[in-house]
Amino acid sequence: MATLTKDQAEDRTTVGHSARIEHVSKSFTGPAGRQLVLDDITLDVAPGEFVTLLGASGCGKSTLLNLVAGLDAPTAGTITTHGRPALMFQEHALFPWLTAGKNIELALRLRGVAKSERRTEAERLLELVRLGGSYGKRVHELSGGMRQRVALARAIAQDSQLLLMDEPFAALDAITRDVLHGELTRIWRETQLSVLFVTHNVREAVRLAERVVLLSSRPGRIAREWTVGIEHPRRIEDTAVAELSVEITEELRGEIRRHGQH
Ligand SMILES: Nc1ncnc2c1ncn2[C@@H]1O[C@H](COP(=O)(O)OP(=O)(O)OP(=O)(O)O)[C@@H](O)[C@H]1O
Ligand SMILES: [Mg+2]
Repeated sequence: MATLTKDQAEDRTTVGHSARIEHVSKSFTGPAGRQLVLDDITLDVAPGEFVTLLGASGCGKSTLLNLVAGLDAPTAGTITTHGRPALMFQEHALFPWLTAGKNIELALRLRGVAKSERRTEAERLLELVRLGGSYGKRVHELSGGMRQRVALARAIAQDSQLLLMDEPFAALDAITRDVLHGELTRIWRETQLSVLFVTHNVREAVRLAERVVLLSSRPGRIAREWTVGIEHPRRIEDTAVAELSVEITEELRGEIRRHGQH
């Protein structure tokens, strides 16, 4: 989404939010009865904002993201998004029988981009994620980090205003993850996408976000949120990132203790 049409640019200034989650609750019914997973969540993501959703394992982060994605419906409350969000998960979910370029072109085709323009646009997106020259590579020829870059390019190819990311870098080694944090920050700033990013890694949450939202567990409620005023470019080892991470980790520990998890 490097270039916005005039209408899209206007939308961005007139629409006050990219996602609006209002009083959302979600229950699942299983063999053990009804389980309230999310309880009265209210949260907005502003246009161009980067929000991380942080919480212990099982607190309902993925459930909330799936609701925002429209993959499931809330039990109560409403969710509105400005257009259809793009998704990126921990598993890259690329089609293994297609090349990197063709995976991206598929998203462009679904978006209605003319056939004659798809290849150039796919190559531009591969450049954006610093994979220029990998158009013809098959998925099995790419490293884990490269696959996640292609998945990111494919998500951006959807030209959504909102990008939903569920622990997309969790399976990567620390150095690759650090590089991709830098790339994601750069792309976010270049494209002015809104991002709702789920993680249980506090440092990652602080490294990336303008706002960190902490969810409690059983049921998931918004426990607290922090505005992260640290200048970009940030690094995961920056003192300011470390200090805020310590404060947030204390809160997260408190949440986990309250619910008897480890
Ligand atoms: N489709 C479903 N049916 C029944 N229970 C579900 C379903 N989806 C999630 N749950 C339950 O909801 C709770 C929250 O799950 P969720 O996957 O949202 O947690 P999470 O915060 O993403 O955890 P993690 O950090 O481990 O990914 C869990 O107890 C899970 O078992
Ligand atoms: Mg999850």
